[in-house]
Amino acid sequence: MFPIRLEQVHFTPNGRAVLAGVDLCVDGEGITLILGPNGAGKTVLLRVLAGLERIHGGSVAWNGAGAPAERIAMVFQHPVLLRTTVADNAGLGLRPLGLSRPEVQRRAADVLGRVGLSHRARDSARHLSGGERQRLALARAWAVRPRLLLLDEPTAALDPTATEAVESIVREIRTGGAKVLMTTHNLGQAMRLADDIVFIEAGRVREHSPAARFFSRPQSQEARLFIRGELPWRIAFPD
Ligand SMILES: Nc1ncnc2c1ncn2[C@@H]1O[C@H](COP(=O)(O)OP(=O)(O)OP(=O)(O)O)[C@@H](O)[C@H]1O
Ligand SMILES: [Mg+2]
Repeated sequence: MFPIRLEQVHFTPNGRAVLAGVDLCVDGEGITLILGPNGAGKTVLLRVLAGLERIHGGSVAWNGAGAPAERIAMVFQHPVLLRTTVADNAGLGLRPLGLSRPEVQRRAADVLGRVGLSHRARDSARHLSGGERQRLALARAWAVRPRLLLLDEPTAALDPTATEAVESIVREIRTGGAKVLMTTHNLGQAMRLADDIVFIEAGRVREHSPAARFFSRPQSQEARLFIRGELPWRIAFPD
């Protein structure tokens, strides 16, 4: 289903240009981080790819096709957990796949082990901490073995230790062969995780570069200002 090619994608709810002509091509390898200021359209872009928003103009092609051929999973910034056990929540995405009950339980137990929550399997998901909830949400998405994983600010409310735990899970998911497309406000995280960076501002992609180049020599003025604002000690860029 790769490359995913967006051409002049417009999303204009009530006439307001939220996505104002997004051009972007994403391949099937590695971790692509989407950066940009509040309100730039990052979450909306992920929702469009997840099929949760209908666009008002332009096109999204999945290796030339109108729909993705393989599975996609999305983890929202505030994941909704059901008021049941951690294990039930981990297996939730498997219900529509028609797997046997033992297979669902096996896969749920497997992903809980991978995110370090095996010991909480029988607890109520309501009692998890923020970092644990986020790890459970990742496990739930991972369990369906998506080819593309969309993550919307998965560490926004987490402390450094919980953030590191989530980052190592994301790396492992990539190693397993899934493409990861993720938004973040955390530039340190972007430096640690990203293979490439998509910088969005005012509903348009201003820059799409390999991560090392983005941080050492951002091409667009918007990206330079953004990096300076977030990392003021990195004041100077070579021209
Ligand atoms: N369905 C919708 N109808 C109307 N406006 C919307 C809709 N979805 C998003 N918006 C608006 O589009 C703009 C971009 O929203 P989006 O959530 O994508 O921003 P973002 O880049 O993810 O910002 P943040 O960094 O704060 O998460 C916002 O002003 C938001 O209010
Ligand atoms: Mg957002």
